[in-house]
Amino acid sequence: MRIGILGATGPAGRGLAARLADVGHEVIAGSREKAKAEAVVAELTEKWGERVARITPGDNSDACNADVVVLAVNADAALDTCRNFAEELQGRIVVSMANHLQRNGNEFNAILPPHGSIAKEIQVLLWKSQVVTAFHLVPAAEFGRLDEAMESDVVACGDDDDARNTLMEIIRTIPDLRAFDGGSLENAVGMETFAAVLLTINIRHKVRAGLRLSGV
Ligand SMILES: NC(=O)c1ccc[n+]([C@@H]2O[C@H](COP(=O)([O-])OP(=O)(O)OC[C@H]3O[C@@H](n4cnc5c(N)ncnc54)[C@H](OP(=O)(O)O)[C@@H]3O)[C@@H](O)[C@H]2O)c1
Repeated sequence: MRIGILGATGPAGRGLAARLADVGHEVIAGSREKAKAEAVVAELTEKWGERVARITPGDNSDACNADVVVLAVNADAALDTCRNFAEELQGRIVVSMANHLQRNGNEFNAILPPHGSIAKEIQVLLWKSQVVTAFHLVPAAEFGRLDEAMESDVVACGDDDDARNTLMEIIRTIPDLRAFDGGSLENAVGMETFAAVLLTINIRHKVRAGLRLSGV
C-alpha cells in the first residue's frame, strides 16, 4: 500500500512512517518543507537502516499522492491543512489522528468544533474524500521504538465501510497492533475526547498509558 503522511516530521508522523515502512508499505513522508522531511528520513535511516528504506521524503503535496493519506500535522493546523490540500485529497482515504486538546492546569480538555469533532469537521471540508480516524490514543514514542512490540489497541471510525476496512487492514499489518471497528464518524468524538482523559491520567499518575481493550 502507498501511504502518504502529512506532517511526518513530528513525533507521531515519523513514528508511524517508520512502523509502516518496516512492515513493507511504501511511505511518502511529507512536510511543509521538503528539506525538513529529508532530514527526518535521514535520521530514521541512520537509526533503523534498511527497515525504513521504503520511506521517501517529500513535501505535503507529494504526500497527498497516495492511496491512503494520514493527517499527522499539529492538531491546530489540521483543518487549514485539509483546506489547502482539498483538491489533491479528492477520492482518497484520509486518516485523521488529531486530538484537539487544551491544557488547563493539571488536566487536558478536548476542544470540539461546531460539527462535533475534528474528524466530522474534516469530512465536511473534504466532502470528496473518505475520512476515517485512528491512532488517537497511541503514544508517538510507541510507534517510534521499532525494536519493541506495540502495546496499544486502535479504534477506527469512518462513514465509508470500504475505507474503514482498508484502514483496519493497514493497522493489522503492524505486529501486535490490534484494530477495532468503532463505527461511523459520529463516534470519532469518543476517541478525540478520551485522548484528553488519557493525557490527564498520564499527568496525574505520572505514567505513559495507552488504550488496551479487555475481553477481546
Ligand atoms: N504525539 C503523540 O503522542 C500523538 C498521539 C496520538 C495522536 N496524535 C495526534 O497526531 C498529530 C501529530 O502529533 P505530533 O505530536 O507529531 O504533532 P506536532 O509535533 O505538534 O506537529 C507535527 C507536524 O505538523 C506540522 N505543522 C506544525 N504547524 C503547522 C502548521 N501551522 N501548518 C501545517 N503543518 C504544521 C509540522 O511539520 P512541518 O514543519 O514539517 O510541516 C510538525 O512537525 C496531532 O494531531 C496529534 O493530536 C499525537
